[in-house]
Amino acid sequence: MPISEKDCEALDASDPLAARRDLFALPDGVVYLDGNSLGALPRSVPERVNAFINDEWGRDLITSWNAHGWFDSPHRVGAKLAPLLGAAPDQVLVCDNLSLNIFKILSGAVALRPDRSVIVTELGNFPTDLYMADSVAAVHGLEVRTVDAGSVLDAIDDDVAVVSLSHVDFRTGEVLDLPAITRAAHEAGALAMWDLAHSTGVMAADLDLNDVDFAVGCGYKYLCGGPGAPAFQYVNRRLHAEFRHPLEGWHGHADPFALTRGFEPGPGMTRLRTGTPAMLSMVAFEEALEVFAGVDLAQIRTKSMALTQLFIDLVGERLADEPFELVAPADASRRGSQVSFAHPDAYPIVQALIARGVIGDFREPDRLRVGFAPLYVRYVDVWRAVATLCSVISTRQWDQPHFHERSTVT
Ligand SMILES: Cc1ncc(COP(=O)(O)O)c(C=O)c1O
Repeated sequence: MPISEKDCEALDASDPLAARRDLFALPDGVVYLDGNSLGALPRSVPERVNAFINDEWGRDLITSWNAHGWFDSPHRVGAKLAPLLGAAPDQVLVCDNLSLNIFKILSGAVALRPDRSVIVTELGNFPTDLYMADSVAAVHGLEVRTVDAGSVLDAIDDDVAVVSLSHVDFRTGEVLDLPAITRAAHEAGALAMWDLAHSTGVMAADLDLNDVDFAVGCGYKYLCGGPGAPAFQYVNRRLHAEFRHPLEGWHGHADPFALTRGFEPGPGMTRLRTGTPAMLSMVAFEEALEVFAGVDLAQIRTKSMALTQLFIDLVGERLADEPFELVAPADASRRGSQVSFAHPDAYPIVQALIARGVIGDFREPDRLRVGFAPLYVRYVDVWRAVATLCSVISTRQWDQPHFHERSTVT
């Protein structure tokens, strides 16, 4: 029996996470499948940001750095995020952006292995991760060994200082084997840094359990922290005492208001701070994390796998004659919370879908990519998305000239 809209409604009716959708302000009539790029707006954020502007910035002015805990916010928000990472709270810091944090962590990591000459990474890693590996290698005179995902384990030898990978591939949605690769890195005497941008909030990384050395990620995707939300860094406690990085700034100093000439690293994660936190973004992110309060990550993961599978099954059933090629692992357990299909007309198809209120995105060279945030995407949304896709294709709506025009952000 083909899947029906009623089947999807029944799945929503028995979904233990269904009520969480009310925590989000989603526009009527929109099916939002781009939470893997920019998470939806949690309803409570505008009021919190307004209160911040009026009562903290407006009324209490500079006293807010103490009175409202602005100064400690990178640690406090890090501690709030920590359970989603499977990390003890004193190992997570929220600050700066992800690209900068990759540079800081990678630089500090290679300095912990001064007798080694290689950073291992993967061809499908996000470009900024690759560029930062190149930068760090250039500064330290190292080699970047870039291999395909299937060859990572073979690339780890005694020359390797750090293995730098993304937990979930941003193009294919493939989940890399974080426990096994971290173990292999350690067995070879190397360190492991994981970019969790596409996994935090939709699946566990169990950083402490897997004895991961370093992790980084952003706040604006599944975590819903808002555009340009501050990023996060995780450093395993066993490395805190020796870890140093090249962007040490006054907020990372052991006594920042001593204002002394020499840098003295602060304790624990403090030394990973650089300068003044962007408080408007920080406060939005801190409030946004409330949508995860008391949530069971296993339930999120189960629903995430079911949503991606439903999308794949519906495309398979209803668009079998179209040249859609699945670019994601067929096994849901090896898939993150997104699905990509290659199609020669993917770009205009995505634009036509957006015009019809189904928001996904396009990734080069020919990928229609959709992401499923289990806290607010319903099974019936998946049904509607595929129904709209069928209509866009059967009417050739995608072939209107303006859908072929390229914008800066795809
Ligand atoms: C996996 C991954 N790493 C890094 C980045 C870059 O992050 P930022 O632009 O916040 O520095 C992104 C952006 O989407 C990403 O998906």
